[in-house]
Amino acid sequence: MKELVIRRAVPEDAEAIARLEKLCFSEPWSYDSVYHELAANRRAFYLAADLCGRLVGYAGLWLIGDEGHITNVAVDPQERGRGIGDLLVGALIEDSRRLGAASHTLEVRTGNAAAISLYEKHGFTAAGVRPGYYEDNGEDAIIMWRKQDHEG
Ligand SMILES: CC(C)(COP(=O)(O)OP(=O)(O)OC[C@H]1O[C@@H](n2cnc3c(N)ncnc32)[C@H](O)[C@@H]1OP(=O)(O)O)[C@@H](O)C(=O)NCCC(=O)NCCS
Repeated sequence: MKELVIRRAVPEDAEAIARLEKLCFSEPWSYDSVYHELAANRRAFYLAADLCGRLVGYAGLWLIGDEGHITNVAVDPQERGRGIGDLLVGALIEDSRRLGAASHTLEVRTGNAAAISLYEKHGFTAAGVRPGYYEDNGEDAIIMWRKQDHEG
């Protein structure tokens, strides 16, 4: 996909990201929350997948000490299965490592096989469960970690 560019997300992307949040998540972040992440949260680092000027995916994390806490990864439903999620997660890890993230962690729904597979592909392994973590349906969260000595 020659036209696809992975770039740093900017506050002007908040509207497109909030739109994708609604399309991709049962508990979406509001426009205000997304805008805050991009414009004001100094710990936040977000990337956008830009396809000919259209935002088709994004991924982000909070840098807490030397840990990268991944907050969200999402790809437009119409553009899935084309490697965009793969590119976003790979770039998020690489770029945040340069900013000081030695290891990475996240929570994912136990039923989200696609995301779990994506994270495993990038070296994450399950490290625990948060029972009933998701408010909408009481689903458990799997806690995953990717440690700094992982190669790949
Ligand atoms: C998870 C998500 C980001 C994947 O994005 P994508 O662009 O379709 O993923 P890619 O095409 O780059 O696929 C990368 C890897 O993800 C996994 N994957 C993607 N779709 C999958 C599916 N339907 N079933 C199983 N694994 C899948 C595979 O490991 C795949 O690697 P492979 O192609 O070598 O098998 C996308 O499905 C999404 O936005 N889901 C809704 C939001 C979400 O759940 N985010 C995660 C929150 S923790």
